[in-house]
Amino acid sequence: MPISIFPFTPSFAAEVGDIDLSRPLDAGTLQAVREAFTTYAVLAFPAQTLTTEQHLAFAAHFGPLEVTVQRALRNEKLRVREEIANMDAEGKLWKKDTRIRLFQMGNRLWHTDSSFKAPSGYASLLYARSVAPIGGHTEFADLRAACEALPAALKARLWGLIAEHSLIYSRRKLGFTTFTPEEKVAFAPVHRPLLRRLAESDRETLYIASHIGRIRGLTDEEAQTLVKELIAHATQRQFLYTHRWRVGDLVMWDNRCTMHRGTEYEDTRWPRDLQRATTSDRSDAFGAAEPASALAADY
Ligand code: OGA
Ligand code: MN
Repeated sequence: MPISIFPFTPSFAAEVGDIDLSRPLDAGTLQAVREAFTTYAVLAFPAQTLTTEQHLAFAAHFGPLEVTVQRALRNEKLRVREEIANMDAEGKLWKKDTRIRLFQMGNRLWHTDSSFKAPSGYASLLYARSVAPIGGHTEFADLRAACEALPAALKARLWGLIAEHSLIYSRRKLGFTTFTPEEKVAFAPVHRPLLRRLAESDRETLYIASHIGRIRGLTDEEAQTLVKELIAHATQRQFLYTHRWRVGDLVMWDNRCTMHRGTEYEDTRWPRDLQRATTSDRSDAFGAAEPASALAADY
Protein backbone atom coordinates (compact mmCIF):
# COMPACT_ATOMS: atom_id res chain seq x y z
CA MET A 1 0.00 0.00 0.00
CA PRO A 2 1.51 3.38 -0.92
CA ILE A 3 1.94 5.96 1.82
CA SER A 4 -0.69 8.69 2.05
CA ILE A 5 -0.03 12.39 2.48
CA PHE A 6 -2.64 14.57 4.21
CA PRO A 7 -1.62 18.22 4.01
CA PHE A 8 -2.23 20.23 7.21
CA THR A 9 -1.32 23.35 5.22
CA PRO A 10 -0.88 23.68 1.43
CA SER A 11 2.93 23.68 1.38
CA PHE A 12 4.36 23.55 4.89
CA ALA A 13 3.11 20.70 7.10
CA ALA A 14 1.54 17.33 6.33
CA GLU A 15 0.61 14.06 7.99
CA VAL A 16 2.04 10.90 6.51
CA GLY A 17 -0.13 7.82 6.91
CA ASP A 18 0.04 4.15 5.98
CA ILE A 19 3.66 3.75 6.95
CA ASP A 20 5.33 1.75 9.73
CA LEU A 21 8.63 3.37 10.68
CA SER A 22 9.69 0.46 12.87
CA ARG A 23 10.39 -1.55 9.71
CA PRO A 24 13.11 -1.04 7.10
CA LEU A 25 11.59 1.04 4.28
CA ASP A 26 11.84 0.06 0.63
CA ALA A 27 13.43 2.49 -1.81
CA GLY A 28 10.11 3.64 -3.28
CA THR A 29 8.63 4.44 0.13
CA LEU A 30 11.75 6.28 1.21
CA GLN A 31 11.71 8.27 -2.00
CA ALA A 32 8.07 9.23 -1.40
CA VAL A 33 8.96 10.41 2.12
CA ARG A 34 11.90 12.44 0.77
CA GLU A 35 9.69 14.09 -1.81
CA ALA A 36 7.08 14.93 0.81
CA PHE A 37 9.85 16.33 3.01
CA THR A 38 10.92 18.66 0.18
CA THR A 39 7.37 19.88 -0.47
CA TYR A 40 6.47 20.13 3.22
CA ALA A 41 9.16 21.05 5.71
CA VAL A 42 7.25 19.42 8.61
CA LEU A 43 5.95 15.83 8.47
CA ALA A 44 3.96 14.08 11.21
CA PHE A 45 3.79 10.27 11.33
CA PRO A 46 1.05 9.25 13.78
CA ALA A 47 0.65 6.02 15.74
CA GLN A 48 4.23 4.76 15.58
CA THR A 49 5.74 2.29 18.03
CA LEU A 50 9.48 2.72 17.98
CA THR A 51 12.42 1.56 19.99
CA THR A 52 15.31 4.01 20.26
CA GLU A 53 17.21 1.96 17.67
CA GLN A 54 14.30 2.05 15.22
CA HIS A 55 13.95 5.79 15.72
CA LEU A 56 17.67 6.32 15.03
CA ALA A 57 17.61 3.96 12.03
CA PHE A 58 14.86 5.97 10.38
CA ALA A 59 16.63 9.26 11.20
CA ALA A 60 19.87 8.02 9.64
CA HIS A 61 18.21 8.09 6.19
CA PHE A 62 18.43 11.87 6.41
CA GLY A 63 22.12 12.28 7.13
CA PRO A 64 24.74 11.57 9.77
CA LEU A 65 23.32 11.53 13.29
CA GLU A 66 24.53 14.29 15.53
CA VAL A 67 26.07 13.22 18.79
CA THR A 68 25.05 15.16 21.83
CA VAL A 69 27.61 16.74 24.12
CA GLN A 70 25.16 16.93 27.00
CA ARG A 71 26.59 13.69 28.18
CA ALA A 72 30.20 14.58 27.41
CA LEU A 73 30.08 18.08 28.83
CA ARG A 74 27.88 17.66 31.81
CA ASN A 75 28.09 13.98 32.44
CA GLU A 76 24.33 13.82 32.55
CA LYS A 77 22.75 10.45 32.02
CA LEU A 78 20.48 10.32 29.00
CA ARG A 79 18.55 7.34 27.77
CA VAL A 80 19.04 8.27 24.13
CA ARG A 81 21.28 10.63 22.20
CA GLU A 82 19.03 13.61 22.49
CA GLU A 83 15.92 14.06 24.45
CA ILE A 84 13.51 16.73 25.38
CA ALA A 85 12.00 14.92 28.35
CA ASN A 86 11.45 16.84 31.57
CA MET A 87 12.77 14.02 33.70
CA ASP A 88 16.01 12.37 34.65
CA ALA A 89 17.20 8.95 33.53
CA GLU A 90 15.21 7.27 36.32
CA GLY A 91 12.02 8.89 35.09
CA LYS A 92 11.75 11.36 38.01
CA LEU A 93 10.47 14.81 37.08
CA TRP A 94 13.00 17.63 37.28
CA LYS A 95 12.86 19.96 40.23
CA LYS A 96 12.14 23.61 39.63
CA ASP A 97 15.67 25.02 39.85
CA THR A 98 17.75 22.29 38.24
CA ARG A 99 20.23 23.58 35.70
CA ILE A 100 19.12 21.34 32.86
CA ARG A 101 15.53 22.46 33.30
CA LEU A 102 16.52 26.11 33.08
CA PHE A 103 18.75 25.34 30.13
CA GLN A 104 15.91 23.61 28.31
CA MET A 105 13.74 26.69 28.72
CA GLY A 106 15.60 27.84 25.60
CA ASN A 107 13.26 25.55 23.66
CA ARG A 108 10.49 28.04 24.36
CA LEU A 109 12.27 30.65 22.24
CA TRP A 110 11.88 30.53 18.45
CA HIS A 111 14.87 28.59 17.18
CA THR A 112 16.12 26.03 14.75
CA ASP A 113 18.13 23.07 15.97
CA SER A 114 21.90 23.18 15.76
CA SER A 115 22.27 26.34 13.69
CA PHE A 116 25.22 26.98 16.02
CA LYS A 117 27.05 23.82 15.09
CA ALA A 118 29.38 23.12 12.22
CA PRO A 119 27.95 21.47 10.21
CA SER A 120 24.48 22.69 11.15
CA GLY A 121 21.38 20.61 11.75
CA TYR A 122 19.29 19.27 8.87
CA ALA A 123 16.45 17.00 10.00
CA SER A 124 15.18 16.70 13.56
CA LEU A 125 12.93 13.76 14.36
CA LEU A 126 11.02 14.01 17.62
CA TYR A 127 9.10 11.01 18.93
CA ALA A 128 6.47 11.23 21.67
CA ARG A 129 6.45 8.60 24.40
CA SER A 130 4.28 10.57 26.79
CA VAL A 131 2.62 13.96 26.47
CA ALA A 132 1.13 16.58 28.76
CA PRO A 133 -2.67 16.88 28.87
CA ILE A 134 -2.55 20.67 28.71
CA GLY A 135 -0.05 22.69 26.64
CA GLY A 136 3.33 21.35 25.59
CA HIS A 137 2.58 21.78 21.89
CA THR A 138 5.28 22.52 19.35
CA GLU A 139 4.82 25.48 17.02
CA PHE A 140 6.57 25.62 13.65
CA ALA A 141 7.22 28.65 11.43
CA ASP A 142 7.62 28.39 7.65
CA LEU A 143 10.80 30.30 6.77
CA ARG A 144 10.48 29.66 3.02
CA ALA A 145 7.04 31.28 2.86
CA ALA A 146 8.19 34.04 5.23
CA CYS A 147 11.18 34.71 2.98
CA GLU A 148 9.03 34.84 -0.13
CA ALA A 149 6.75 37.35 1.57
CA LEU A 150 9.53 39.80 2.49
CA PRO A 151 9.45 43.21 0.81
CA ALA A 152 11.90 43.15 -2.13
CA ALA A 153 14.06 45.98 -0.78
CA LEU A 154 14.52 44.26 2.60
CA LYS A 155 15.29 40.96 0.93
CA ALA A 156 17.93 42.63 -1.23
CA ARG A 157 19.53 44.05 1.92
CA LEU A 158 19.55 40.63 3.63
CA TRP A 159 21.31 38.79 0.81
CA GLY A 160 24.94 38.56 1.77
CA LEU A 161 24.45 39.25 5.50
CA ILE A 162 26.19 36.74 7.74
CA ALA A 163 24.92 36.03 11.26
CA GLU A 164 26.72 34.55 14.27
CA HIS A 165 24.82 31.72 15.96
CA SER A 166 25.60 30.44 19.44
CA LEU A 167 23.72 28.74 22.24
CA ILE A 168 25.28 31.32 24.51
CA TYR A 169 23.29 34.09 22.78
CA SER A 170 19.93 32.33 23.07
CA ARG A 171 20.54 31.29 26.68
CA ARG A 172 21.62 34.84 27.53
CA LYS A 173 18.22 36.06 26.32
CA LEU A 174 16.77 33.97 29.17
CA GLY A 175 19.14 35.41 31.73
CA PHE A 176 21.20 32.24 31.72
CA THR A 177 24.82 33.37 31.81
CA THR A 178 26.85 30.80 33.70
CA PHE A 179 28.73 28.56 31.31
CA THR A 180 31.63 26.32 32.18
CA PRO A 181 34.91 26.86 30.29
CA GLU A 182 34.20 23.66 28.32
CA GLU A 183 30.77 24.95 27.34
CA LYS A 184 32.23 28.26 26.21
CA VAL A 185 34.52 26.40 23.84
CA ALA A 186 31.78 24.07 22.66
CA PHE A 187 29.37 26.94 22.06
CA ALA A 188 31.78 29.22 20.17
CA PRO A 189 29.73 31.03 17.51
CA VAL A 190 29.42 29.78 13.94
CA HIS A 191 28.64 32.00 10.95
CA ARG A 192 25.66 31.45 8.70
CA PRO A 193 24.02 33.48 5.92
CA LEU A 194 20.63 35.01 6.79
CA LEU A 195 19.20 34.02 3.42
CA ARG A 196 19.89 31.10 1.15
CA ARG A 197 18.40 29.02 -1.62
CA LEU A 198 17.85 25.32 -0.97
CA ALA A 199 18.79 22.93 -3.74
CA GLU A 200 16.04 20.28 -3.41
CA SER A 201 13.07 22.63 -3.48
CA ASP A 202 14.84 25.45 -5.34
CA ARG A 203 13.20 27.84 -2.87
CA GLU A 204 14.74 30.70 -0.97
CA THR A 205 14.61 30.65 2.80
CA LEU A 206 15.42 32.79 5.78
CA TYR A 207 17.79 31.19 8.27
CA ILE A 208 17.06 32.83 11.59
CA ALA A 209 16.85 31.80 15.23
CA SER A 210 17.16 33.13 18.75
CA HIS A 211 20.69 31.73 18.60
CA ILE A 212 21.76 34.75 16.49
CA GLY A 213 23.89 37.29 18.33
CA ARG A 214 25.87 39.50 16.00
CA ILE A 215 25.50 40.14 12.29
CA ARG A 216 28.65 41.06 10.41
CA GLY A 217 28.73 44.71 9.38
CA LEU A 218 25.92 45.75 11.78
CA THR A 219 26.15 47.13 15.30
CA ASP A 220 24.85 44.82 18.04
CA GLU A 221 21.74 47.01 18.39
CA GLU A 222 21.08 46.95 14.64
CA ALA A 223 21.59 43.20 14.56
CA GLN A 224 19.22 42.48 17.46
CA THR A 225 16.58 44.85 16.06
CA LEU A 226 16.78 43.13 12.68
CA VAL A 227 16.62 39.63 14.18
CA LYS A 228 13.60 40.62 16.29
CA GLU A 229 11.87 42.06 13.24
CA LEU A 230 12.57 39.01 11.12
CA ILE A 231 11.38 36.61 13.82
CA ALA A 232 8.22 38.70 14.28
CA HIS A 233 7.63 38.65 10.52
CA ALA A 234 8.22 34.90 10.18
CA THR A 235 5.99 33.94 13.09
CA GLN A 236 2.83 35.64 11.87
CA ARG A 237 -0.22 33.42 11.99
CA GLN A 238 -0.19 32.56 8.27
CA PHE A 239 3.28 31.02 8.50
CA LEU A 240 2.59 28.78 11.51
CA TYR A 241 1.63 25.19 12.11
CA THR A 242 1.06 24.00 15.69
CA HIS A 243 1.59 20.33 16.43
CA ARG A 244 -0.59 19.03 19.24
CA TRP A 245 1.15 15.86 20.35
CA ARG A 246 -0.30 12.40 20.78
CA VAL A 247 1.66 9.50 22.12
CA GLY A 248 3.25 7.64 19.20
CA ASP A 249 3.66 10.72 16.97
CA LEU A 250 6.96 11.12 15.23
CA VAL A 251 7.36 14.62 13.80
CA MET A 252 10.28 15.52 11.57
CA TRP A 253 11.25 18.95 10.34
CA ASP A 254 13.85 20.57 8.14
CA ASN A 255 15.95 22.85 10.34
CA ARG A 256 17.27 24.73 7.31
CA CYS A 257 13.93 26.37 6.55
CA THR A 258 11.81 26.26 9.74
CA MET A 259 11.86 27.58 13.27
CA HIS A 260 10.06 25.95 16.16
CA ARG A 261 9.36 26.44 19.84
CA GLY A 262 7.70 24.47 22.59
CA THR A 263 4.67 25.97 24.32
CA GLU A 264 4.27 26.15 28.04
CA TYR A 265 3.05 23.26 30.17
CA GLU A 266 3.32 22.32 33.82
CA ASP A 267 6.64 20.62 33.50
CA THR A 268 7.15 19.90 37.18
CA ARG A 269 3.80 18.13 37.22
CA TRP A 270 3.29 16.21 33.95
CA PRO A 271 5.89 13.93 32.43
CA ARG A 272 6.40 14.90 28.79
CA ASP A 273 8.74 12.42 27.26
CA LEU A 274 9.88 13.25 23.76
CA GLN A 275 13.08 11.92 22.27
CA ARG A 276 14.88 13.59 19.43
CA ALA A 277 17.38 12.53 16.82
CA THR A 278 18.96 15.24 14.67
CA THR A 279 21.06 14.82 11.56
CA SER A 280 23.79 17.07 10.18
CA ASP A 281 23.39 19.06 6.99
CA ARG A 282 25.77 17.45 4.52
CA SER A 283 25.27 20.33 2.11
CA ASP A 284 26.48 22.82 4.72
CA ALA A 285 29.41 24.35 2.84
CA PHE A 286 29.90 26.90 5.60
CA GLY A 287 30.23 24.25 8.25
CA ALA A 288 32.94 22.41 6.39
CA ALA A 289 35.19 25.45 6.29
CA GLU A 290 35.06 26.11 10.02
CA PRO A 291 37.09 24.77 12.90
CA ALA A 292 35.45 22.00 14.88
CA SER A 293 35.08 24.39 17.81
CA ALA A 294 31.32 24.21 17.76
CA LEU A 295 31.06 20.73 19.14
CA ALA A 296 27.75 18.98 18.99
CA ALA A 297 25.32 20.29 21.56
CA ASP A 298 21.61 20.21 22.03
CA TYR A 299 18.66 22.28 20.86
C1 OGA B 1 13.24 20.23 20.04
C2 OGA B 1 12.45 21.31 20.64
C3 OGA B 1 10.34 21.86 21.60
C4 OGA B 1 9.29 21.07 22.28
O1 OGA B 1 12.87 19.08 20.20
O2 OGA B 1 14.25 20.53 19.40
O3 OGA B 1 12.83 22.45 20.57
O4 OGA B 1 8.10 21.31 22.02
N1 OGA B 1 11.30 20.95 21.17
O5 OGA B 1 9.66 20.22 23.08
MN1 MN C 1 14.57 22.54 19.16
